[in-house]
Amino acid sequence: MMDQYGVMGCPIQHSWSPRIHQLFAKQTNQSLVYRPILVPPDQLEQALHTFQTEGGKGLNITLPFKQQAYELIDKLSERAQLAQAVNTIRFDPDGSLFGDNTDGIGFIRDVIHHHQFPISDKRVLILGAGGAARGILGPILQESPALLVIANRTEANANALAAAFSSYHESVQACALSALTKFEFDLIINATSASLTDAIIELPVSLLGKQAYCYDMMYGKEPTPFMKWAQKHHVAIVSDGLGMLVEQAAESFYIWRGVRPDTQPVLEILRL
Ligand code: ATR
Repeated sequence: MMDQYGVMGCPIQHSWSPRIHQLFAKQTNQSLVYRPILVPPDQLEQALHTFQTEGGKGLNITLPFKQQAYELIDKLSERAQLAQAVNTIRFDPDGSLFGDNTDGIGFIRDVIHHHQFPISDKRVLILGAGGAARGILGPILQESPALLVIANRTEANANALAAAFSSYHESVQACALSALTKFEFDLIINATSASLTDAIIELPVSLLGKQAYCYDMMYGKEPTPFMKWAQKHHVAIVSDGLGMLVEQAAESFYIWRGVRPDTQPVLEILRL
C-alpha cells in the first residue's frame, strides 16, 4: 500500500491541498496518496486516531481544527508553540504525533522570495486577530519590521494578541480598525476571514505607503474585495494567499518526506 497522507477540515472539498501534494509527489518521484478528509467539528480526536490506526503517515489540518489539533499533539515544534496552532502532523514510528505549523514560514517565503519584498525595517499592518493572524506574527517579528500594528474589528482581540507577542518585539501595537487613520504602512496583510463572505473592510486610503504591498491570505479564482480595493487605489503590489498555500504545503511535504519540492512550477500550474 502507498503511504497515506491527507488534509482534515470542515468543509474540505474546496481545498487545493490534494492537488498541490499530488503535483509535489509527481515532481519528486515520491509514491504516496493524499486525500481530503471531512471531519465533523467535534470529532477531530477520533478522526486522528482512526487515520493513525489505518497506518496514516501525515496530515495537514485546516479550518476549524488548527487550535484543537494543537491540544492533541505529543511533541510540538517551536513554531507551533508560538502560533498555538498546528497545520501539519507527522505520525512517528513510535506511535507519537509530531505537530508543526508551516503557515508562517509559507507566508514569509512567498513575500520575501517570490515577491522579493524584504520585511526588515518595513511598517507592517495585520488586519485581524484570529488564528490566521497569530500564525504569521512570530515569523514576521523574526524579520525585524520597523513597526507592527494589529488592527481588528474587536479591539480587545487585537490587544490580547499584541500582548501575547510583545515580549518578542517592542514595536507591536494594537488598535481598532477605526483608528487606522493616523498610520501609514508598507505591507498590509488581510488576515481576517472577511473575504470568505465577500465582506468589505472599510479602510482609509491614507494608510497606504508609497510602495505599499497588499497581501490577502485568502485565495480563489477571483480577487478578494480587499485586493480589489488595493487595485483601485493603485497599490504597487497586490497578491492573494495562493503562494503562501503552496509554500506551507512544500514545508509540510519536507517534514514528512525529507524532500523539498520546487514550488514555482506548481504555482504556475495552479494559476492556469
Ligand atoms: P481565523 O482562524 O481564520 O483567523 P477567526 O479566529 O474566526 O478565524 O478570526 C477571524 C478574524 O477575522 C477576526 O479577527 C475577526 O474579527 P473579530 O475579532 O472582530 O471577530 C475578523 N473578521 C471576520 N469578519 C470580518 C469582517 N466582516 N470585517 C472585519 N473583520 C472581520
